[in-house]
Amino acid sequence: MTTSSLRPAAHEAGNTAASKVKYWNDVYQEPSVYGTRPSLTLIRVVRCLRVLQPPLHTFLDLGCGYGKDLFFAASALPRFRSFLGIDFSSKALRTALSFARRRQGAHNTVRFICANLQRGLPVEPQAPLVLFSHFFLQTLTFNDRGILAALLRERIPSGSLLFLGEYSRSHPLFLSSETTGESGTVSLRRDGYEHSVHFFSKSEILAYAQRLGASVLYTDEFRERETIRGARIVSSLHFGILSFGLAENLQSTAAVLSGRM
Ligand SMILES: C[S@@+](CC[C@H](N)C(=O)[O-])C[C@H]1O[C@@H](n2cnc3c(N)ncnc32)[C@H](O)[C@@H]1O
Repeated sequence: MTTSSLRPAAHEAGNTAASKVKYWNDVYQEPSVYGTRPSLTLIRVVRCLRVLQPPLHTFLDLGCGYGKDLFFAASALPRFRSFLGIDFSSKALRTALSFARRRQGAHNTVRFICANLQRGLPVEPQAPLVLFSHFFLQTLTFNDRGILAALLRERIPSGSLLFLGEYSRSHPLFLSSETTGESGTVSLRRDGYEHSVHFFSKSEILAYAQRLGASVLYTDEFRERETIRGARIVSSLHFGILSFGLAENLQSTAAVLSGRM
C-alpha cells in the first residue's frame, strides 16, 4: 500500500459503493490508524451532555470506525441506555469487536451495525437520539452529503441532538493544497483510488443544519492534536451542536455553553 498524497480536485464519480468500502477496509488494515484515544470532539460532547442533560436514550455514532469514541462515550455517559456505532467497513468493525471483547463490562451497552448510511439509517429510532459525527460527513461527496441529509431529516425523532466535529478550512492539510471542483474539497489518492475529503467553512455548517431541518445551538472552531497513520498532527475542526426540535429550556442552556467549551 502506498502512502496517501494530497492532490487538487476530487473526481469520485467513478467510485462505486463497493470501491468506497474497499478503500476504507484498506485504511483499516492498520487497526488503530486514528490512534486509540477519544477525539477532542467526543470529549466536548461528553462535557456538553453533562450540562444539557437531555432525555437520554441512544447515542449513535455515524461512521464510527473502530469505535474509539463510542467506547469512551459508553464509559463516560452511563445514563444512556445504548450506544450504537454504524459504519460500512467490516474491517473497522472487526477491530471494534475485538476491542469490545477485551473491555468486558463497561461496554455491554455498545453495539455496532455494518451498513451503508447512504441507504438510510439501519434502525428505526422512536425516541430522541444523540447523534455524533466526527470526521465522517466530510468523507462524503457533496451529492452524498445531500442524500444523507434528506434521509436523516426524515428519520431523526424530534428532541434529538447532532454533534458535529468536521475538519475546517484552517486545517494545515487544506491550507497546503489547492482545491478545484467542489469548493473546499481536496483529493487523496491511494493505490489509484481517488478519495475526497471536504473541509467545512462555518457558513457551510450552518447551511448543512438547514438541509437537515435542524437549528444550530452552538458552533465554534478548535484545534486538536491527533494521530493519523502514526503521525501526530494538529487538526482544526468546526464543532457544532444541532437540534431537531429540542425543548426551549435546553436551547437556552446550550446558549450558556458558549465560552465554556
Ligand atoms: C475518517 S473515518 C472516521 C472514523 C471515526 N469517526 C473516527 O473519528 O475515528 C470515516 C469513517 O466513515 C465510514 N464511512 C464512510 N462512508 C460511509 C457510509 N456511506 N456508510 C457508513 N460508513 C461510512 C468509513 O468506513 C470510516 O470508518
